[in-house]
Amino acid sequence: MKTLAIIKPDAVAGGKIGKILAHLEGAGFTIRAARFMRLSQAQARAFYVVHKEQPFYDSLVKFMTSGACMPVLLEHEDAVRALREAIGATDPAEATKGSVRGLYAESKERNAIHASDSAETAERETAFFFSEDELNALQG
Ligand code: CMP
Repeated sequence: MKTLAIIKPDAVAGGKIGKILAHLEGAGFTIRAARFMRLSQAQARAFYVVHKEQPFYDSLVKFMTSGACMPVLLEHEDAVRALREAIGATDPAEATKGSVRGLYAESKERNAIHASDSAETAERETAFFFSEDELNALQG
């Protein structure tokens, strides 16, 4: 199965893309698609719409539009669970030491990477960045 990750602007600006992708490949994930882009305000607001009532929403949108990010489609036999385990808790203070956030996150907000929280969310979030045609073409 597949799930979606986004390497966030803090990690991109901090030069951590290569380390994070190597970490995920080392944890058994296969990279199936990726893009390098800067989210618009509208895209960031739509992507995080489930958090729109949260006090951190505006700040999160500002952060996510502050620079380039890298959405990545990852495959693993237990992708959603395995990715959440590999990246660690939202707050780096609570994240496992060797997890992506334990290694690279700066704060609860600037936390290096996003991962879909369920199979349903993974489908919605994958479709947000990658079209069916594009994914079919990549499968060749
Ligand atoms: P992510 O996994 O992308 O999902 C929602 C994001 O909101 C989260 O990672 C953080 O970047 C951010 N976030 C969640 N909780 C907080 C918080 N309490 N304060 C600031 N940002 C938060």
